Amino acid sequence: MKKYLKKALIILGALLVLILTIGLFGWLYLKSTFLTIEDDYAENKDFKEITEAAYTFKDRNSNGKLDVYEDEREPIDERVADALSQMTIDEKIHLLKGSGLASALGMVEPGEGIPGAVGTIVPTPRLGLPTIYLSDGPAGLRIEPTREGESRTYYCTAFPIGTLLASTWNIELVEEVGNAMGNEALEYGLDVILGPGANIHRHPFCGRNFEYFSEDPLLTGYIGAAIVNGIEANGVGTSVKHFVANNQETNRNFNDALISERAMREIYLKGFEIIVKESQPWTVMSSYNKVNGTYVAQNKKLLTDVLRNDWKFEGLVMSDWFGGQDAPAMISAGNDLLEPGTKRQWKALIKAHEEGELSEKEIDLSVSRILKLVIASKKMQNYKYGNNPDLEAHAKITRSSASEGMVLLKNESALPIPKAKNVALLGINSFDFIAGGTGSGDVNEAYSISLEEGLRNAGFKINTAAKNIYESHKKNNSKEFIKPEGMKAMFTPYFPPQVIYSIEQLNQLASEADVAIITIGRNAGEGGDRVAKDDFLLTSIEQKMIEDTCKAFHEVNKKVIVVLNIGGVIETASWSAKPDAVLLAWQGGQEGGNSVADILSGKVNPSGKLPVTFPINLDDHASNKNFPQNGEPMNPLDMIFGKEVEAEADKIKDKDYTKYEEGIYVGYRHFDKSKLNVSYPFGFGMSYTNFEFIEPSIIVENDTLTISTTIKNSKNLVGKEVVQVYVSKPNSSIDRPEQELKAFVKTKSLAPEESQNIIFQIPVSELSYWNESKYGWEIERGTYSIRLGSSSRDIKSVLDVEI
Ligand code: BGC
Repeated sequence: MKKYLKKALIILGALLVLILTIGLFGWLYLKSTFLTIEDDYAENKDFKEITEAAYTFKDRNSNGKLDVYEDEREPIDERVADALSQMTIDEKIHLLKGSGLASALGMVEPGEGIPGAVGTIVPTPRLGLPTIYLSDGPAGLRIEPTREGESRTYYCTAFPIGTLLASTWNIELVEEVGNAMGNEALEYGLDVILGPGANIHRHPFCGRNFEYFSEDPLLTGYIGAAIVNGIEANGVGTSVKHFVANNQETNRNFNDALISERAMREIYLKGFEIIVKESQPWTVMSSYNKVNGTYVAQNKKLLTDVLRNDWKFEGLVMSDWFGGQDAPAMISAGNDLLEPGTKRQWKALIKAHEEGELSEKEIDLSVSRILKLVIASKKMQNYKYGNNPDLEAHAKITRSSASEGMVLLKNESALPIPKAKNVALLGINSFDFIAGGTGSGDVNEAYSISLEEGLRNAGFKINTAAKNIYESHKKNNSKEFIKPEGMKAMFTPYFPPQVIYSIEQLNQLASEADVAIITIGRNAGEGGDRVAKDDFLLTSIEQKMIEDTCKAFHEVNKKVIVVLNIGGVIETASWSAKPDAVLLAWQGGQEGGNSVADILSGKVNPSGKLPVTFPINLDDHASNKNFPQNGEPMNPLDMIFGKEVEAEADKIKDKDYTKYEEGIYVGYRHFDKSKLNVSYPFGFGMSYTNFEFIEPSIIVENDTLTISTTIKNSKNLVGKEVVQVYVSKPNSSIDRPEQELKAFVKTKSLAPEESQNIIFQIPVSELSYWNESKYGWEIERGTYSIRLGSSSRDIKSVLDVEI
């Protein structure tokens, strides 16, 4: 007995020592990694001496004279140069990294910082340079809705997801959305919104596709630029992300994207290029991944040669959160700001400078880009934000923009539904509607309108029996209906179990209700990619729900409508023949249910068009051969502590590296080239009315194609059409896509019989392709076909032109 006791004590003791050692090292590691505001004072000798000034503005009027950098009448470049000339090297290095995650993790004292802001540009108190606050994200501002010790709230508007905004194909409307988002940032004291996301939908499984716009770079570029212009019109900045080729979430911090130069230029960089040229954003966010062996955050070719020298980007580049592995290399490459900033990076920068590896010239370049943002900010102008944005006005904007981006995929005389009809709502997501994706692209909105509420608001009767089935299902599975909180909610899409309807129940509903609406919901988000089973593919319960509901309702001559409340593409070919109508509602933000009801009731005529192809099979995507298939979720700590695999032999395909073997053949470029049938083609979307394309013409003058056509609404309902211009080069001597989108426009609201003349101007240079051997853009001579269409596979007229 005694012997055992002694053994147990020894083991216990050893365990204790082990735990203490791990704890000690863990604590030391964390301490050397994380930054707190106090560190700013304690760690840096010069900075310590100036702490008295605290985080407040210098009293500008104390001597009645402004320095050049403070004087708003002076040109910005001179103000920047003046501020830079007054800074010590310690202050400069200090400015290159943010102040850590304290604010985002709620580690700030009440009244300090802006709770929920994920990053900062640190202040320089001696010069009165203020703290700049950075906050997510693409579907609206993400800050904490409540603050310790305060009874009021700080909700933000959840706008539609990026993919839905792209589906509007409406630049003015998207700019209006951006404007509203930017206004919330301004009025809540945030200086930069960390969005939009402009990565290409290379494959339907990317968990963050919902934040991104399209499989096409031109649509991505113009919609992205519209958001940026809208947000920045408020005097707050954007961070266009994630530059570049961050097309998967699996091992996103270390994945090496192996891509040809041509695919980079024509597909992955092109959208960013258009955004930079059309909107000159304040900032760009470098991505976590590597491209062809080098972390983008340390990639001088991408951050300096392409972004700055080729495209003339004038803003600053910040890292993605904890992105990049070598702080001095990041600064040298042109990644000016390290976010959220760690002590390790700070020390590494100081050391690199002391040892001559990071020159003051390089530091000055990055610091002056940061100073430019700080000096141009509303904070610097001492703008008094009221913490009171007009959320009601913004709710109207989100409602109308969401309905404009919803895409009618099928309609066999089922829609619109006359009001006051009794509607049987089926599927959990009819009641539990999804406003947006998870992760940093999520928004803390005050409310979210479900489809049930939306239909009720629009004057429909909600069938009680169907509602009761849902309610008792929810009661019986109450635990699964609780949304995970905090960190878990950020990285785990929330999925309660689906309702299983019996044939008897459905027959009963079919006898009572006038129409059935089934909602199929999907969610995804940061930190994980999607998978085929029960995600891209419907679950067997969902398949049966559609099948049985259609049978029951069709037997009594009643219609069935499927609403897709999804953030990414799903399989539709196996079931879409069954229902009478399919509406792709995407995830429409906090007013989503009202927006869907506006379309179902006919208050709004659908005019959304697909920014992505819906393939028949996953395999039809050329990228499917080289995309992670098992959706391996990330460990959030990988961002901070993760380690890359060094040995070539140990590297795992599609995880440690991903070969973009399909080259430029992404989305419709591939489906067209390989002559594959698709479920719904790129650019497709139905309306309740019809449009005619009349009298197309083209002239080439001054290296510009001028194309014109007239669009006429030929039915008796008001509506909008998207005119799409594709260009193809028949008999090309090189390997080229069959056609590529080169311009688009959305008509105004056309009354019945009303026409609108549309004119496009496309520079001839836009017809060029990237010539790998010459390392440059090149234009082929010969005949080009200009194809005007209502979708990529519904071309109304073809005009030939000689270049
Ligand atoms: C995401 C970024 C986001 C940042 C700050 C990162 O994990 O990739 O998109 O802006 O966190 O929240």
